[in-house]
Amino acid sequence: MSRLTPIAFETTDLDVMEAAKGRVVIIVTPDGKMDPSARRANRLTKGAIARLVASDKFSKAKSGQVISLAWPTGLAAEALDVLVLDRNITAVDARKAGATLARLKAGKPLTVMTGGMRRAAELALGIALRDYRFDAYKSKDDDSADDAAPVTLYHTKADDVSAAAAPLLAVAEGAHMTRNLVNEPANVLTTTEFADRLAEMKELGLKVEVLEEDKLAELGMRTLLAVGQGSASPSKVVVMQWDGGKKDDAPLALVGKGVVFDTGGISLKPSGGMEDMTMDMGGAGVVAGTMRALALRKAPANVVGLVGLVENMPSGTATRPGDVIKSMQGTTVEVVNTDAEGRMVLCDVMWYTQERFKPAGMVDLATLTGAIIVGLGHENAGVFSNDDAFCNAFLKSAASEGEGAWRMPLGKAYDDLIKSPIADIKNTGGRPAGSITAAQFLARFVKDDTPWIHLDIAGVASVKGETDFAPKGATGWGVAALNRLVQDKFETAE
Ligand code: BES
Ligand code: MN
Ligand code: ZN
Repeated sequence: MSRLTPIAFETTDLDVMEAAKGRVVIIVTPDGKMDPSARRANRLTKGAIARLVASDKFSKAKSGQVISLAWPTGLAAEALDVLVLDRNITAVDARKAGATLARLKAGKPLTVMTGGMRRAAELALGIALRDYRFDAYKSKDDDSADDAAPVTLYHTKADDVSAAAAPLLAVAEGAHMTRNLVNEPANVLTTTEFADRLAEMKELGLKVEVLEEDKLAELGMRTLLAVGQGSASPSKVVVMQWDGGKKDDAPLALVGKGVVFDTGGISLKPSGGMEDMTMDMGGAGVVAGTMRALALRKAPANVVGLVGLVENMPSGTATRPGDVIKSMQGTTVEVVNTDAEGRMVLCDVMWYTQERFKPAGMVDLATLTGAIIVGLGHENAGVFSNDDAFCNAFLKSAASEGEGAWRMPLGKAYDDLIKSPIADIKNTGGRPAGSITAAQFLARFVKDDTPWIHLDIAGVASVKGETDFAPKGATGWGVAALNRLVQDKFETAE
């Protein structure tokens, strides 16, 4: 399992380049300007950089691209990576450049000569985000690579960069936690194991409470319990609290769907691809990773994170299609399809969250519908909201962090599709607008005065190919955007 790559920040010292092991990175602007480190590398390599800059290959190179010189003369390193980079780059572009370096790193020590680069902390974040591998169950190391091979980043103002990088690396650590949870198989990450891993975050100063089935029954969380009742793993709700803000400020609430495995229940899924449903706790994973990031950087904000942990299994005790369940709120739900289980978990946790915490805003995250993948693919999460200002703030946060998010509509006509002949509502509205009717179901459990955002992350939580910031598998999508939302909208200016 991946832990965060250690990154050391050191004051520029051109003399380290000659003997550095692994890979050495220098920066050259697209118009061929070399900083002192690049000039030193050029001298050590007897003019190789100048020849590269004069080449066709270089003139075609775009900002962000890396041109690698293998086994360079005059250096002990096995590669000299020339990062072509504009002086004025956005934070996201700096991260992408860092991610490109991490992809090349492949377990080798990395010496990055950033000179006086403006976005060096973001470059470090990009390295940390991309330097991730989930190999807990590989008995033999494929390439005997040491993931934790150190990164040393040299900068003229190393202390400033180090200070700026600290809160960013907290985000990377949060995203790594999310990925570890999402990548974990369901025989390991049971509801109990999940709750235990969250409880470990008490070390970071988070309050963590685990509500067990008897307590959930007492609270009336019957729709949540109905989903888990076919499984040998007990259903749980975990409440995490980060009280970094003013004592009486209402918190931001994050609520996550934590279905540790979704077979569909009695409405059993087809077997092809069912193994992917180990990621159906992705919403809970993002809530956990975000809480970790906030605690690590000691965010001056009040944020609560609640996750509903259940397993959706078919069995003699499982909920049947046709069953009617009364939610904690009191609304009765006809279970038309036991595979539409996420909304039944969330509705009780969302109601409990509002009753207990009266949050200033509530964001729920869930791998809720296959339909959102049909609509938006793996590029954007679906965003649904009852509050334009809150929603726009989130969309802005996501855009500035390079995490795709696209707003979808809500409305009465969609709500009409979940009317039930025998109960207040049914748990599916059929094929048309499947992601929207799922969101309408959740909207029934949002109080009028709660600004609310629902994020359907089924397409972005885990993907088959690599993304800008992650190798294939779990992405950690959302940790950076939510951390940014907290930072921009929920922190107390001291
Ligand atoms: N966990 C699934 C949604 C999902 C699908 C997540 C693909 C990730 C990848 C969810 O519980 C589900 O089964 N949804 C059904 C709803 C339907 C029965 C109304 C779906 O999308 O088919
Ligand atoms: Mn399902
Ligand atoms: Zn599901």
